[in-house]
Amino acid sequence: LNYNVDRERRYILQVLFNGLRRLEYRGYDSAGIAIDASDFTSSPPLVFRQEGNIESLVKSVYQDVSEIELNLEVSFRTHAGIAHTRWATHGEPAPRNSHPQTSGPANEFMVVHNGVITNYEVLKATLLLHGFTFTSETDTEVIPKLAKFVYDNANEGDQVVTFSQVVLEVMRHLEGAYALIFKSLHYPNELIACKRGSPLLLGVKELAENKENGSAFEENKFLSKDGKPRELFLSSDANAVVEHTKKVLVIEDGEVVHLKDGGVSILKYENDMGELGASLSRASSVRRALSVLEMEVEQINKGHYEHYMQKEIHEQPESLTTTMRGRLIRRGSSKSKSVLLGGLKDHLKTIRRSRRIVFIGCGTSYNAALAARPILEELSGIPVTMEIASDLLDREGPIYREDTAVFVSQSGETADTLLALQYALDNGALCVGITNTVGSAIARNTHCGVHINAGAEIGVASTKAYTSQIVVMAMLALAIGGDTISNQARREAIVDGLHELPNKVREVLELDQEMKDLANLLIAEQSLLVFGRGYNYATALEGALKVKEVALMHSEGILAGEMKHGPLALVDENLPIVVIATRDVCFSKQQSVIQQLHARRGRLIVMCSEGDAASVCPGESCRVIEVPQVEDCLQPVINVVPLQLLAYHLTVLRGFNVDQPRNLAKSVTTQ
Ligand code: G6P
Repeated sequence: LNYNVDRERRYILQVLFNGLRRLEYRGYDSAGIAIDASDFTSSPPLVFRQEGNIESLVKSVYQDVSEIELNLEVSFRTHAGIAHTRWATHGEPAPRNSHPQTSGPANEFMVVHNGVITNYEVLKATLLLHGFTFTSETDTEVIPKLAKFVYDNANEGDQVVTFSQVVLEVMRHLEGAYALIFKSLHYPNELIACKRGSPLLLGVKELAENKENGSAFEENKFLSKDGKPRELFLSSDANAVVEHTKKVLVIEDGEVVHLKDGGVSILKYENDMGELGASLSRASSVRRALSVLEMEVEQINKGHYEHYMQKEIHEQPESLTTTMRGRLIRRGSSKSKSVLLGGLKDHLKTIRRSRRIVFIGCGTSYNAALAARPILEELSGIPVTMEIASDLLDREGPIYREDTAVFVSQSGETADTLLALQYALDNGALCVGITNTVGSAIARNTHCGVHINAGAEIGVASTKAYTSQIVVMAMLALAIGGDTISNQARREAIVDGLHELPNKVREVLELDQEMKDLANLLIAEQSLLVFGRGYNYATALEGALKVKEVALMHSEGILAGEMKHGPLALVDENLPIVVIATRDVCFSKQQSVIQQLHARRGRLIVMCSEGDAASVCPGESCRVIEVPQVEDCLQPVINVVPLQLLAYHLTVLRGFNVDQPRNLAKSVTTQ
């Protein structure tokens, strides 16, 4: 936060803490903050760091009030503060490993970092030789120390360096992925932010109307240091900014953003910039226009729900409607039902000519692609292969110019998926992005794509993004499949199915209490298996993933066709097993699976289509989950919902944190 109007410290702290609360879903094992001392001309900035969630930090700051004379009423004409919430990569969660990391006790340079510095060991060794001592196990600590080293050396003699020069020089030495914000004792009321690989956003809030020129946000006005009162926000994502302003700038890789006295200037870092001194003159200044966030503050509030995950499960009828809005159309003289995906229209021909379509993603996004694979194969006739991003990179699996690589990612920022994207781009494939985050790295770096428009997803376990991803990929299949006569009836049935999907999801959500009862039964279990196949192999994987990640119960999704090749050995009268046996081409095979599990006294919970309970249940001990039937390729959207509800209730009943599951984070921006 940087602004140039009088604001009291209380407000400054509130803005920073609230910002952290909005970002907490990205990491929540420790947090920290740096603000100026009441008299920043003579005292160093104050840094607080605390293990645990944001509230522990808030508590510790307010508890220390008397001790450090944290005068809440003191006001500042200009103030620059930074704060951070962490998901540990290097070093356990502890105050010393939290950010801001500093150059030393005097807090000459303070840095918050999202990402990983891969060459930190070399940098650390060099800095140790120059007499620096390190207090954390983080990769980040080298950054403020390097800044101090650069500053001290550059300021020998008469030379005076600017904050930008220091940071440009630091960047020259950093390898890896980062979004950084620097604050310094030597440059009060200034902040520098820069990035490479990790996301960063600037929000601009004008505090007074510029009546003369209509909009106060014209590009040149925005960049001029005109002294108008404004607040500036830097954040890893829009959630922390949207309650203050919708005017934002997505910072690009290599850009160095300098906030000073309410003004903004942006420099572009070039790799061949040369030694300090040359750097600033060679760095070109950048002019950028602001864009407007299409996001409402309500989206990031829990409303009347107790948890974000609960809210996001229950808002799926609405999120699916938004995903499809304007995309289901009637085309041609026959007015046949079809889809329109604006972001793909210039590339459809190339996609149709591809030798192969490769889906690439991680976690839930991978599962969503797996759910859509059968319909894409059916309608396009093109072979579709699946890649978990990290595995593709580990193997350096072949990707060809004739391939279409589809990158599926809710956040659009997952490090492995991004690296796989770079790999596919290097290999000449046509790259398509499917993300929920406008302006994300995947949205920006793919050749074309589709936004799923599911609205902000805050719960770490993905729910509504999953169902919207499947719907977008079903629409992708329709778009690639084109308007061939041979599958017109099928296409129309799918479009009709899409139209009625939100209402069917509304119906399946009525199973909430039933799933709570089931959760009560399973509360003390050690393990849960979920069997699926065909369209619902993905549902088995995704259902099990939900149970595993939030309810902290061991759970495996099993391809039912593989049952006899191992999983059957686990079956006994104690282990609960969910079998997905809704109506589709695999139905009779699943009936036979149920019989075989029953014959081995398996403890069965069968998910079936409405009206099928009697025919699928082999005995009285079998529990049934009846769900509405929809077009087979859309059935995974329905079937996952009871499993999401089950995972949710299991988590609450077992007393675990629903929205912040142990050791996990929403956006995994490090490898
Ligand atoms: C993390 C999240 C998951 C998510 C996965 C992929 O593991 O906890 O919910 O499915 O990352 O994230 P993406 O943003 O690429 O879909």
